[in-house]
Amino acid sequence: MTGNEPDTDTDIGSDGGSGNDHGDEEDRNPVLLVRGDREFLVQPGEEMGTDLGVLEVPEDVEPGQTLETHLDEEFQVRRLRGPDLFHHFERTGAPMVPRDVGLVIGETGISRGDCVLDAGTGTGVLAASMARAGAEVVTYERDPEFADVARENMELGGIAEEVDVRTGDLREELEALEPSSFDVLTLDTGDAADVVAHAPDLLVEGGFVAVYSPFIESTREVVEAAREADLANVRTRETIQREMQFDDRGSRPSTAPVGHTGYLTIARNE
Ligand SMILES: C[S@@+](CC[C@H](N)C(=O)[O-])C[C@H]1O[C@@H](n2cnc3c(N)ncnc32)[C@H](O)[C@@H]1O
Repeated sequence: MTGNEPDTDTDIGSDGGSGNDHGDEEDRNPVLLVRGDREFLVQPGEEMGTDLGVLEVPEDVEPGQTLETHLDEEFQVRRLRGPDLFHHFERTGAPMVPRDVGLVIGETGISRGDCVLDAGTGTGVLAASMARAGAEVVTYERDPEFADVARENMELGGIAEEVDVRTGDLREELEALEPSSFDVLTLDTGDAADVVAHAPDLLVEGGFVAVYSPFIESTREVVEAAREADLANVRTRETIQREMQFDDRGSRPSTAPVGHTGYLTIARNE
């Protein structure tokens, strides 16, 4: 169980997750228990203890239900959706915000049946979101403790089957990977340029590379590596978003700091 108060500043967008299969299997997926601004991510069959009493989550729990603790305190059951992963996963490496997850999935077209190679796993938000969009994901994390937490996060998110979290530095594992076996390569590491150089060997024809970097220096290295590797349509965009304020005095962009999170470089194997 994880409890969290959603951070509404970052609770934006969607990961494009499928999440719409309302069959029996879906009923065994994790769900959110919500009461006011309190949220708990729980598994069917789990016993949840709170200061409002103990709540037994039924095996056949369904979104839309109201459940009560033994003290008759009510929680609403809600279906888990992509942005909830950002709020409820245990954090290690800085997780990608929902907006940038949406950009990666939108720019590469990740969908059901795709095979994605990802590094580094970090918290696992991007890897989990791509799995929810239907992809099989192989993701590498060089920090063994981070990798263990990421595996637990995948269990928590109900996508452990779809995400293979491997412990290791991706740069040292490249030789062991099957050539041309990935549709998309996603990198969120400072050393991404070293892997981009091998993208033509790893990707199917027409496959995409997406590299996310908070810094311009490593972004430049990535662009140079992509050009050197003869990848096509190499484009970098800053990911930035301005929140709008609507109040009695008028409507304008928020005066809070600029919403820069990073640079997203996309390229294609042709
Ligand atoms: C910013 S975090 C990734 C966050 C992730 N995209 C998410 O949404 O949760 C970067 C992670 O990459 C890992 N890392 C850096 N270089 C790596 C490499 N060459 N191979 C595997 N993992 C690496 C770091 O240990 C760190 O946990």
